[in-house]
Amino acid sequence: MRDAGSEGGADAVALRGRRILLVIAGGIAAYKCLDLIRRLRENGAHVRCILTAAGAAFVTPLSVETLAGQAVYTDTLALTGESEIAHIKLGQEADIVVVAPATADIMARMTHGIADDLATSTLIAADKPVLVASAMNTRMWQHPATERNRARLEADGVSFVGPNDGPLAEGESGPGRMAEVPEIVAAIVDVLDAQPGPLAGLRVLVTSGPTYEPIDPVRFLGNRSSGKQGHAIAAACADAGADVVLVSGPTAEAAPAGVETVRVETAAEMLAACEEGLPADIAICAAAVSDWRAAAPQDQKIKKPRRGKGRGDAGLTLELAENPDILATLSTPGPKRPRLVIGFAAETEDVEANAAAKLAAKGCDWILANKVAEGAVFGDDENLVHLLTRGAGDGAPGVEQWLRMSKAEVAARLVQRIADALPSGTETA
Ligand code: CTP
Repeated sequence: MRDAGSEGGADAVALRGRRILLVIAGGIAAYKCLDLIRRLRENGAHVRCILTAAGAAFVTPLSVETLAGQAVYTDTLALTGESEIAHIKLGQEADIVVVAPATADIMARMTHGIADDLATSTLIAADKPVLVASAMNTRMWQHPATERNRARLEADGVSFVGPNDGPLAEGESGPGRMAEVPEIVAAIVDVLDAQPGPLAGLRVLVTSGPTYEPIDPVRFLGNRSSGKQGHAIAAACADAGADVVLVSGPTAEAAPAGVETVRVETAAEMLAACEEGLPADIAICAAAVSDWRAAAPQDQKIKKPRRGKGRGDAGLTLELAENPDILATLSTPGPKRPRLVIGFAAETEDVEANAAAKLAAKGCDWILANKVAEGAVFGDDENLVHLLTRGAGDGAPGVEQWLRMSKAEVAARLVQRIADALPSGTETA
Protein backbone atom coordinates (compact mmCIF):
# COMPACT_ATOMS: atom_id res chain seq x y z
CA MET A 1 0.00 0.00 0.00
CA ARG A 2 1.46 3.33 -1.00
CA ASP A 3 0.60 6.82 0.25
CA ALA A 4 2.23 10.12 -0.42
CA GLY A 5 2.33 11.30 3.19
CA SER A 6 -0.65 13.49 3.81
CA GLU A 7 -0.24 14.39 7.49
CA GLY A 8 -0.41 18.17 8.03
CA GLY A 9 -0.84 20.96 5.47
CA ALA A 10 1.72 22.50 3.13
CA ASP A 11 2.93 24.87 5.88
CA ALA A 12 3.51 21.91 8.18
CA VAL A 13 5.64 20.19 5.53
CA ALA A 14 7.73 23.28 4.96
CA LEU A 15 8.07 24.29 8.61
CA ARG A 16 8.42 20.98 10.41
CA GLY A 17 11.74 20.87 12.23
CA ARG A 18 12.85 24.25 10.83
CA ARG A 19 14.61 26.56 13.26
CA ILE A 20 13.28 30.08 13.24
CA LEU A 21 14.97 32.94 15.04
CA LEU A 22 12.45 35.70 15.63
CA VAL A 23 13.70 39.18 16.50
CA ILE A 24 10.89 41.13 18.17
CA ALA A 25 11.53 44.86 17.99
CA GLY A 26 9.67 47.72 19.60
CA GLY A 27 6.41 48.42 17.83
CA ILE A 28 2.76 48.14 18.74
CA ALA A 29 2.47 45.19 16.32
CA ALA A 30 4.77 43.17 18.63
CA TYR A 31 1.63 41.63 20.10
CA LYS A 32 1.04 39.82 16.79
CA CYS A 33 4.35 38.02 17.30
CA LEU A 34 2.81 36.02 20.12
CA ASP A 35 0.32 34.56 17.68
CA LEU A 36 3.08 34.14 15.09
CA ILE A 37 5.13 32.05 17.52
CA ARG A 38 2.12 29.89 18.28
CA ARG A 39 1.35 29.33 14.58
CA LEU A 40 4.93 28.46 13.74
CA ARG A 41 5.17 25.95 16.58
CA GLU A 42 1.83 24.41 15.66
CA ASN A 43 3.38 23.72 12.27
CA GLY A 44 6.32 21.95 13.86
CA ALA A 45 8.92 24.74 13.74
CA HIS A 46 11.33 25.45 16.60
CA VAL A 47 11.15 29.13 17.51
CA ARG A 48 13.83 31.05 19.39
CA CYS A 49 13.23 34.69 20.18
CA ILE A 50 15.34 37.75 20.74
CA LEU A 51 13.36 40.51 22.41
CA THR A 52 14.90 43.98 22.03
CA ALA A 53 14.73 46.43 24.92
CA ALA A 54 12.10 48.42 22.99
CA GLY A 55 10.21 45.22 22.15
CA ALA A 56 10.01 44.39 25.86
CA ALA A 57 8.02 47.58 26.34
CA PHE A 58 5.25 46.02 24.22
CA VAL A 59 5.33 42.31 25.08
CA THR A 60 6.76 40.67 28.17
CA PRO A 61 9.65 38.21 28.09
CA LEU A 62 7.42 35.82 30.04
CA SER A 63 4.71 35.75 27.34
CA VAL A 64 7.30 35.22 24.62
CA GLU A 65 9.09 32.53 26.62
CA THR A 66 5.87 30.69 27.43
CA LEU A 67 4.73 30.58 23.83
CA ALA A 68 8.16 29.74 22.40
CA GLY A 69 8.67 27.04 25.02
CA GLN A 70 12.20 28.21 25.69
CA ALA A 71 14.17 31.06 27.22
CA VAL A 72 13.92 34.38 25.43
CA TYR A 73 17.17 36.17 24.55
CA THR A 74 17.43 39.75 25.73
CA ASP A 75 20.22 42.29 26.11
CA THR A 76 20.30 41.58 29.85
CA LEU A 77 21.15 37.99 29.06
CA ALA A 78 23.73 39.20 26.56
CA LEU A 79 25.74 40.65 29.46
CA THR A 80 26.31 37.25 31.02
CA GLY A 81 29.38 35.17 30.15
CA GLU A 82 27.38 32.34 28.62
CA SER A 83 25.83 34.51 26.00
CA GLU A 84 28.94 36.38 24.95
CA ILE A 85 28.82 34.28 21.84
CA ALA A 86 25.00 34.22 21.74
CA HIS A 87 24.87 36.55 18.76
CA ILE A 88 27.01 34.11 16.75
CA LYS A 89 25.35 30.94 18.01
CA LEU A 90 21.78 32.16 17.52
CA GLY A 91 22.32 32.91 13.84
CA GLN A 92 24.23 29.68 13.22
CA GLU A 93 21.56 27.56 14.84
CA ALA A 94 18.70 29.01 12.78
CA ASP A 95 17.43 28.29 9.28
CA ILE A 96 15.93 31.79 8.95
CA VAL A 97 15.94 35.04 10.91
CA VAL A 98 12.65 36.95 11.00
CA VAL A 99 12.47 40.55 12.21
CA ALA A 100 8.94 41.48 13.30
CA PRO A 101 7.83 44.12 13.79
CA ALA A 102 10.69 45.80 11.94
CA THR A 103 10.62 49.43 12.93
CA ALA A 104 12.20 52.27 10.95
CA ASP A 105 14.94 52.28 13.58
CA ILE A 106 15.92 48.61 13.33
CA MET A 107 15.77 48.77 9.52
CA ALA A 108 18.16 51.74 9.60
CA ARG A 109 20.51 49.97 11.99
CA MET A 110 20.46 46.82 9.84
CA THR A 111 21.18 48.88 6.70
CA HIS A 112 24.26 50.40 8.24
CA GLY A 113 25.52 47.26 9.94
CA ILE A 114 25.21 48.78 13.38
CA ALA A 115 25.67 46.14 16.06
CA ASP A 116 24.89 47.84 19.35
CA ASP A 117 22.58 45.27 20.93
CA LEU A 118 21.97 41.53 20.79
CA ALA A 119 19.40 41.78 17.97
CA THR A 120 21.54 43.85 15.59
CA SER A 121 24.75 41.97 16.50
CA THR A 122 22.97 38.70 15.68
CA LEU A 123 21.63 40.10 12.42
CA ILE A 124 25.06 41.20 11.22
CA ALA A 125 26.62 37.88 12.23
CA ALA A 126 23.91 35.70 10.66
CA ASP A 127 24.65 34.00 7.36
CA LYS A 128 21.06 32.79 7.07
CA PRO A 129 18.20 34.28 5.06
CA VAL A 130 16.56 37.26 6.75
CA LEU A 131 12.87 38.17 6.44
CA VAL A 132 11.64 41.57 7.56
CA ALA A 133 8.01 42.35 8.48
CA SER A 134 8.04 46.14 8.64
CA ALA A 135 5.59 48.11 10.74
CA MET A 136 5.60 51.84 11.25
CA ASN A 137 3.70 55.03 10.67
CA THR A 138 2.92 55.74 6.98
CA ARG A 139 5.07 58.87 6.90
CA MET A 140 8.00 57.00 8.39
CA TRP A 141 7.53 54.22 5.83
CA GLN A 142 7.35 56.71 2.96
CA HIS A 143 10.28 58.81 4.13
CA PRO A 144 13.13 58.74 1.58
CA ALA A 145 15.49 57.47 4.29
CA THR A 146 13.32 54.39 4.92
CA GLU A 147 12.84 53.87 1.19
CA ARG A 148 16.62 53.99 0.74
CA ASN A 149 17.12 51.57 3.60
CA ARG A 150 14.61 49.14 2.21
CA ALA A 151 16.22 49.22 -1.25
CA ARG A 152 19.67 48.73 0.31
CA LEU A 153 18.47 45.79 2.44
CA GLU A 154 16.78 44.17 -0.56
CA ALA A 155 19.98 44.56 -2.55
CA ASP A 156 21.75 42.82 0.35
CA GLY A 157 19.37 39.86 -0.04
CA VAL A 158 16.90 40.64 2.74
CA SER A 159 13.26 39.66 1.97
CA PHE A 160 10.26 41.76 2.96
CA VAL A 161 6.67 40.93 3.81
CA GLY A 162 4.27 43.86 4.02
CA PRO A 163 3.65 46.39 5.32
CA ASN A 164 -0.03 46.47 4.46
CA ASP A 165 -2.35 49.39 3.90
CA GLY A 166 -4.88 50.04 6.63
CA PRO A 167 -5.68 51.80 9.88
CA LEU A 168 -2.64 52.51 12.02
CA ALA A 169 -2.32 52.75 15.78
CA GLU A 170 -2.08 56.55 15.65
CA GLY A 171 -5.58 56.80 14.17
CA GLU A 172 -4.24 57.42 10.65
CA SER A 173 -4.56 55.12 7.69
CA GLY A 174 -2.04 54.09 4.99
CA PRO A 175 0.80 51.70 4.33
CA GLY A 176 2.59 50.76 7.54
CA ARG A 177 0.52 48.02 9.20
CA MET A 178 2.54 44.90 9.86
CA ALA A 179 1.52 41.98 7.63
CA GLU A 180 -0.94 39.58 9.25
CA VAL A 181 0.34 36.38 10.85
CA PRO A 182 -0.74 34.02 8.00
CA GLU A 183 1.03 36.31 5.50
CA ILE A 184 4.23 36.21 7.57
CA VAL A 185 4.00 32.41 7.89
CA ALA A 186 3.55 32.14 4.10
CA ALA A 187 6.54 34.44 3.52
CA ILE A 188 8.69 32.34 5.87
CA VAL A 189 7.67 29.21 3.95
CA ASP A 190 8.57 30.91 0.63
CA VAL A 191 11.99 31.97 1.88
CA LEU A 192 12.71 28.52 3.33
CA ASP A 193 11.49 26.79 0.17
CA ALA A 194 13.94 28.83 -1.87
CA GLN A 195 16.84 27.49 0.24
CA PRO A 196 18.13 24.08 -0.76
CA GLY A 197 18.24 21.74 2.24
CA PRO A 198 21.50 19.94 3.09
CA LEU A 199 20.25 16.72 1.46
CA ALA A 200 18.65 18.37 -1.59
CA GLY A 201 19.04 16.25 -4.71
CA LEU A 202 19.71 13.04 -2.77
CA ARG A 203 17.42 10.04 -2.71
CA VAL A 204 17.10 8.20 0.59
CA LEU A 205 15.56 4.81 1.26
CA VAL A 206 14.53 4.18 4.88
CA THR A 207 13.15 1.01 6.47
CA SER A 208 11.17 1.30 9.69
CA GLY A 209 8.99 -0.63 12.13
CA PRO A 210 8.73 -4.37 12.69
CA THR A 211 7.82 -7.06 10.20
CA TYR A 212 4.99 -9.48 10.84
CA GLU A 213 5.53 -13.01 9.61
CA PRO A 214 2.29 -15.01 9.36
CA ILE A 215 1.99 -18.35 11.10
CA ASP A 216 -1.64 -18.76 10.10
CA PRO A 217 -4.38 -16.25 9.18
CA VAL A 218 -4.64 -14.94 12.77
CA ARG A 219 -1.15 -15.34 14.25
CA PHE A 220 2.21 -13.89 13.38
CA LEU A 221 5.80 -13.62 14.54
CA GLY A 222 6.70 -10.01 15.25
CA ASN A 223 8.56 -7.76 17.65
CA ARG A 224 8.09 -4.65 19.74
CA SER A 225 9.52 -2.08 17.32
CA SER A 226 7.39 1.10 17.30
CA GLY A 227 8.82 2.59 14.11
CA LYS A 228 9.39 5.92 15.89
CA GLN A 229 13.11 6.14 15.11
CA GLY A 230 12.82 5.10 11.47
CA HIS A 231 9.88 7.41 10.83
CA ALA A 232 11.72 10.30 12.52
CA ILE A 233 14.72 9.67 10.24
CA ALA A 234 12.52 9.62 7.13
CA ALA A 235 10.88 12.90 8.22
CA ALA A 236 14.25 14.54 8.99
CA CYS A 237 15.69 13.51 5.60
CA ALA A 238 12.63 14.95 3.84
CA ASP A 239 12.94 18.15 5.89
CA ALA A 240 16.54 18.37 4.71
CA GLY A 241 15.36 18.34 1.10
CA ALA A 242 15.94 14.67 0.24
CA ASP A 243 13.60 12.62 -1.91
CA VAL A 244 12.57 9.93 0.60
CA VAL A 245 11.01 6.48 0.24
CA LEU A 246 9.99 4.98 3.57
CA VAL A 247 9.33 1.25 3.60
CA SER A 248 7.42 0.62 6.79
CA GLY A 249 6.28 -2.49 8.58
CA PRO A 250 3.04 -2.34 10.61
CA THR A 251 3.24 0.58 13.07
CA ALA A 252 0.92 3.09 14.69
CA GLU A 253 3.15 5.92 13.41
CA ALA A 254 1.57 8.21 10.81
CA ALA A 255 3.18 8.43 7.39
CA PRO A 256 5.46 11.50 7.58
CA ALA A 257 4.33 14.36 5.35
CA GLY A 258 6.28 14.77 2.15
CA VAL A 259 7.58 11.20 2.23
CA GLU A 260 6.57 8.40 -0.13
CA THR A 261 5.55 5.65 2.28
CA VAL A 262 5.24 2.03 1.22
CA ARG A 263 3.51 -0.16 3.79
CA VAL A 264 4.51 -3.80 4.01
CA GLU A 265 4.02 -6.68 6.43
CA THR A 266 6.70 -9.29 5.92
CA ALA A 267 10.48 -9.21 5.48
CA ALA A 268 10.10 -10.55 1.94
CA GLU A 269 7.72 -7.69 1.08
CA MET A 270 10.07 -5.20 2.73
CA LEU A 271 13.01 -6.44 0.66
CA ALA A 272 10.96 -6.31 -2.56
CA ALA A 273 9.81 -2.73 -1.79
CA CYS A 274 13.41 -1.69 -1.02
CA GLU A 275 14.67 -3.15 -4.28
CA GLU A 276 11.92 -1.28 -6.09
CA GLY A 277 12.99 1.90 -4.27
CA LEU A 278 16.51 1.71 -5.77
CA PRO A 279 18.56 3.42 -7.02
CA ALA A 280 19.17 5.54 -3.95
CA ASP A 281 22.14 7.53 -2.71
CA ILE A 282 21.60 6.50 0.87
CA ALA A 283 19.88 3.53 2.53
CA ILE A 284 19.04 3.61 6.22
CA CYS A 285 17.78 0.34 7.68
CA ALA A 286 16.03 1.15 10.94
CA ALA A 287 13.45 -1.64 10.71
CA ALA A 288 13.46 -4.45 13.24
CA VAL A 289 13.15 -7.16 10.63
CA SER A 290 12.05 -10.52 11.95
CA ASP A 291 15.01 -12.84 11.51
CA TRP A 292 12.75 -15.82 10.95
CA ARG A 293 9.42 -16.65 9.41
CA ALA A 294 7.21 -19.70 9.67
CA ALA A 295 8.58 -22.16 7.11
CA ALA A 296 5.06 -23.15 6.06
CA PRO A 297 2.41 -20.60 7.03
CA GLN A 298 -0.99 -22.29 7.24
CA ASP A 299 -3.99 -21.18 5.19
CA GLN A 300 -6.36 -22.04 8.02
CA LYS A 301 -6.11 -21.30 11.73
CA ILE A 302 -4.01 -23.92 13.50
CA LYS A 303 -6.31 -25.70 15.93
CA LYS A 304 -5.32 -26.77 19.41
CA PRO A 305 -5.82 -30.53 19.87
CA ARG A 306 -8.93 -31.18 21.99
CA ARG A 307 -8.03 -32.41 25.45
CA GLY A 308 -9.45 -35.81 26.13
CA LYS A 309 -8.79 -38.90 27.97
CA GLY A 310 -5.33 -40.21 27.35
CA ARG A 311 -4.17 -37.04 25.54
CA GLY A 312 -1.33 -35.22 27.21
CA ASP A 313 -0.25 -31.61 26.91
CA ALA A 314 0.39 -31.47 23.19
CA GLY A 315 2.88 -28.74 22.32
CA LEU A 316 3.36 -27.29 18.89
CA THR A 317 6.64 -27.25 17.08
CA LEU A 318 6.89 -24.50 14.56
CA GLU A 319 9.48 -24.82 11.87
CA LEU A 320 11.14 -21.53 11.04
CA ALA A 321 13.01 -20.41 7.97
CA GLU A 322 15.53 -17.57 7.94
CA ASN A 323 14.42 -14.30 6.40
CA PRO A 324 16.51 -12.38 3.89
CA ASP A 325 18.83 -9.82 5.47
CA ILE A 326 17.76 -6.54 3.88
CA LEU A 327 20.68 -4.50 5.20
CA ALA A 328 23.23 -7.06 4.00
CA THR A 329 21.48 -7.29 0.62
CA LEU A 330 21.50 -3.51 0.14
CA SER A 331 25.17 -3.41 1.21
CA THR A 332 26.28 -5.95 -1.40
CA PRO A 333 28.79 -4.29 -3.71
CA GLY A 334 27.48 -3.61 -7.19
CA PRO A 335 26.10 -0.85 -9.38
CA LYS A 336 22.88 -0.61 -7.35
CA ARG A 337 24.58 -0.26 -3.96
CA PRO A 338 23.73 3.11 -2.39
CA ARG A 339 26.82 5.19 -1.71
CA LEU A 340 26.10 5.19 2.00
CA VAL A 341 24.37 2.26 3.72
CA ILE A 342 23.49 2.71 7.38
CA GLY A 343 22.19 0.03 9.71
CA PHE A 344 21.06 -0.15 13.30
CA ALA A 345 22.17 -2.62 15.91
CA ALA A 346 19.79 -3.44 18.72
CA GLU A 347 21.93 -5.05 21.39
CA THR A 348 21.25 -6.25 24.90
CA GLU A 349 24.96 -6.46 25.90
CA ASP A 350 28.47 -5.47 24.72
CA VAL A 351 26.90 -2.82 22.50
CA GLU A 352 30.10 -1.55 20.90
CA ALA A 353 31.72 -4.93 20.23
CA ASN A 354 28.54 -6.50 18.87
CA ALA A 355 27.83 -3.47 16.69
CA ALA A 356 31.39 -3.51 15.31
CA ALA A 357 30.96 -7.20 14.44
CA LYS A 358 27.63 -6.41 12.75
CA LEU A 359 29.19 -3.57 10.75
CA ALA A 360 31.77 -5.98 9.36
CA ALA A 361 29.34 -8.87 8.83
CA LYS A 362 26.68 -6.86 7.01
CA GLY A 363 29.06 -4.83 4.86
CA CYS A 364 27.31 -1.52 5.58
CA ASP A 365 29.18 1.77 6.10
CA TRP A 366 27.78 3.01 9.40
CA ILE A 367 25.89 1.45 12.28
CA LEU A 368 23.86 3.25 14.91
CA ALA A 369 23.95 0.99 17.92
CA ASN A 370 21.63 1.11 20.88
CA LYS A 371 20.94 -0.95 23.94
CA VAL A 372 17.53 -2.56 24.16
CA ALA A 373 17.86 -4.30 27.51
CA GLU A 374 15.00 -4.17 30.03
CA GLY A 375 12.48 -2.98 27.49
CA ALA A 376 14.36 0.30 26.98
CA VAL A 377 14.19 2.03 23.58
CA PHE A 378 11.22 0.24 21.98
CA GLY A 379 8.39 2.74 22.03
CA ASP A 380 10.46 5.33 23.97
CA ASP A 381 10.76 8.85 22.68
CA GLU A 382 14.45 8.95 23.56
CA ASN A 383 17.44 7.01 22.39
CA LEU A 384 21.07 6.60 23.50
CA VAL A 385 23.18 5.61 20.54
CA HIS A 386 26.74 5.05 19.38
CA LEU A 387 27.63 5.80 15.79
CA LEU A 388 30.17 3.37 14.35
CA THR A 389 31.75 4.30 11.05
CA ARG A 390 33.77 1.86 8.99
CA GLY A 391 37.47 2.67 9.04
CA ALA A 392 39.69 2.53 5.99
CA GLY A 393 40.61 -1.03 4.99
CA ASP A 394 40.45 -3.43 7.91
CA GLY A 395 40.97 -0.67 10.47
CA ALA A 396 38.82 -0.51 13.59
CA PRO A 397 35.61 1.47 13.17
CA GLY A 398 35.37 5.02 14.42
CA VAL A 399 33.06 5.29 17.43
CA GLU A 400 31.09 8.36 18.48
CA GLN A 401 28.98 8.15 21.61
CA TRP A 402 26.00 10.46 21.34
CA LEU A 403 24.29 11.85 24.41
CA ARG A 404 20.82 10.64 25.34
CA MET A 405 18.48 12.61 23.10
CA SER A 406 15.05 12.39 21.57
CA LYS A 407 14.58 10.17 18.53
CA ALA A 408 13.85 13.33 16.52
CA GLU A 409 17.22 14.74 17.63
CA VAL A 410 19.00 11.48 16.75
CA ALA A 411 17.41 11.80 13.30
CA ALA A 412 18.48 15.45 12.93
CA ARG A 413 22.01 14.63 14.03
CA LEU A 414 22.21 11.71 11.61
CA VAL A 415 21.08 13.99 8.79
CA GLN A 416 23.84 16.43 9.72
CA ARG A 417 26.45 13.64 9.67
CA ILE A 418 25.18 12.44 6.29
CA ALA A 419 25.27 15.97 4.88
CA ASP A 420 28.88 16.30 6.06
CA ALA A 421 29.81 12.96 4.52
CA LEU A 422 28.04 13.25 1.17
CA PRO A 423 27.86 16.32 -1.00
CA SER A 424 24.24 16.89 -2.00
CA GLY A 425 22.83 17.39 -5.46
CA THR A 426 24.41 14.31 -7.05
CA GLU A 427 22.32 12.40 -9.55
CA THR A 428 21.25 8.90 -8.50
CA ALA A 429 20.36 7.30 -11.79
N1 CTP B 1 18.26 -6.19 9.33
C1 CTP B 1 17.74 -6.37 8.06
N2 CTP B 1 17.19 -7.57 7.73
C2 CTP B 1 17.16 -8.59 8.58
C3 CTP B 1 17.67 -8.43 9.89
C4 CTP B 1 18.21 -7.21 10.25
O1 CTP B 1 17.77 -5.44 7.28
N3 CTP B 1 16.63 -9.74 8.22
C5 CTP B 1 18.89 -4.92 9.67
C6 CTP B 1 18.15 -4.07 10.67
O2 CTP B 1 17.28 -3.18 10.01
C7 CTP B 1 19.28 -3.33 11.35
C8 CTP B 1 20.44 -4.32 11.29
O3 CTP B 1 20.12 -5.23 10.27
O4 CTP B 1 19.68 -2.22 10.59
C9 CTP B 1 20.72 -5.07 12.55
O5 CTP B 1 19.54 -5.62 13.08
P1 CTP B 1 19.57 -6.43 14.44
O6 CTP B 1 18.21 -6.96 14.72
O7 CTP B 1 20.26 -5.62 15.50
O8 CTP B 1 20.58 -7.58 14.11
P2 CTP B 1 20.41 -8.95 13.42
O9 CTP B 1 21.04 -8.89 12.08
O10 CTP B 1 18.99 -9.40 13.45
O11 CTP B 1 21.33 -9.85 14.34
P3 CTP B 1 21.04 -10.40 15.84
O12 CTP B 1 19.55 -10.52 15.95
O13 CTP B 1 21.74 -11.70 15.83
O14 CTP B 1 21.63 -9.42 16.77
